[in-house]
Amino acid sequence: MSNKKLITAALPYANGPVHIGHLAGVYIPADVYARFQRRSGKDVAFICGSDEHGIPITIRAKKEGVTPQDIVDKYHEIIKKSFSDLGISFDEYSRTTSQNHRETSQDFFKVLYEKEKFTEEVSEQYFDEQANEFLADRYIVGTCPNCGNENAYGDQCEKCGSTLSPSELINPKSMLSGNVPIKKDTKNWYLPLNEYEDFLNEWIIEGHKDDWKPNVYGQVKSWLTDGLKPRAMTRDLNWGVPVPLPNAEGKVLYVWFDAPIGYISFTKEWAEKNGKDWKDYWQSEESDLVHFIGKDNIVFHCIIFPAMMKAHGDFIMPKNVPAFEFLNLENDKISTSRNWAVWAHEYVEEFPGQQDVLRYALLSSAPETKDNNFTWKDFQTKNNSELVGIFGNFINRVAVLIHKYYAGIVPQGDLNASELHEINKSAKEISGFLENYEFRNSLTALMNLARFGNQYLQAEEPWKTIKDNPEKAAHSLFVAAQIAVALAQLCEPFMPFSSQKLLNMFNVQK
Ligand code: 2FM
Ligand code: ZN
Repeated sequence: MSNKKLITAALPYANGPVHIGHLAGVYIPADVYARFQRRSGKDVAFICGSDEHGIPITIRAKKEGVTPQDIVDKYHEIIKKSFSDLGISFDEYSRTTSQNHRETSQDFFKVLYEKEKFTEEVSEQYFDEQANEFLADRYIVGTCPNCGNENAYGDQCEKCGSTLSPSELINPKSMLSGNVPIKKDTKNWYLPLNEYEDFLNEWIIEGHKDDWKPNVYGQVKSWLTDGLKPRAMTRDLNWGVPVPLPNAEGKVLYVWFDAPIGYISFTKEWAEKNGKDWKDYWQSEESDLVHFIGKDNIVFHCIIFPAMMKAHGDFIMPKNVPAFEFLNLENDKISTSRNWAVWAHEYVEEFPGQQDVLRYALLSSAPETKDNNFTWKDFQTKNNSELVGIFGNFINRVAVLIHKYYAGIVPQGDLNASELHEINKSAKEISGFLENYEFRNSLTALMNLARFGNQYLQAEEPWKTIKDNPEKAAHSLFVAAQIAVALAQLCEPFMPFSSQKLLNMFNVQK
């Protein structure tokens, strides 16, 4: 088994704060996994950063009447702080507007260019003559050919949900000037994804049928069955990483070309600061690469980025790509535009010191295999009945009893075989589930140990035996304390803040 774990979490667009859907579907599970791997002695690099290019950023800037740079500066800070406040233990959290990222992604592009991995294709694109700019699909509005909605975008109609291409829109208009755009020829560089079909079929369809999640495997399979097409890796835009070729003015790297390279750039930044060699993580079979993402990112992480890395030639392929489904809020789709979300930075402000409650609630309803739902009622129940009622209650009983009968000093003792077995069984179950990306089951296994602790105390009744069988009482409380310490240690990946408090309380190490 490899000793290095390179764990990435999807780079959030720096066009708005992160919400509970992002947390439950990517960042908290990724953090649990990274913390668990560190505890297991693995050499972990847990990498993320803000995705600061692409149309979502320029659209937000336009809406707010500021520059794209202003937008990314603002949201990068907000997002970075929310992650750190919630205990997401990235080893590196950087940004794609960094100079290092620009160079790294340009170098990557140049390698592919020099190896003749791209094709050059001229296509007709909508162009706004007044703004003197080619128009990204999102910058064209018009009437949906399917439902007649007059405000459909060039890539999608939000009313009927159909996917569109700009030329399908009736009466297209530029969002920049409101004018009717003209069509103009433009040259871009394409990666012929069709040439990677055999490789992808062999690697994923044949090689990962049993160990990748069915939602991920199924999506990849359906893309491959439909057949892949060449995809443009450059765009006519003025916000992004400039294409590093002569005569490529006004062209930038496609955001989905540069963003995943961010994982590499940021690993380099981390390695440099920590006396490590980034290649040990990206270019060695001794390293396991795992991408945590949401389901809308599957094609980019399982098809496009692997094809880019294959074309480059020096990189390892991901061992797994655990993608999550979506989380709804109170049975309604989370929506930034309708402001229907629980924002991470607002939660931290409104519930100071309660980070672990959110981590616990979101993990226990993580949308692992299907979309899931978050409700405040459920949040309250999970806190009151599970965290306080089971976990907290057990720890509290142990602490109170040891204080009362032994002045706070845990009595000496030995675990018998069955007691030891019970604790080890929980530890094994938790790690088995986590190795398998089954976060909800692993959390249940943790809580089951707390449940066992409560039952144990109830059966042993040390508050009774202390009177006529003090030796038995001492043993019971010794065992209960071992369970409490095991809980304090085992809960670290899930609830790092509480874990630290409990470890301090019991005066033990991680
Ligand atoms: O979907 C998103 O939010 C993208 N910003 C994810 C990018 S992940 C990566 F490849 F960088
Ligand atoms: Zn429509």
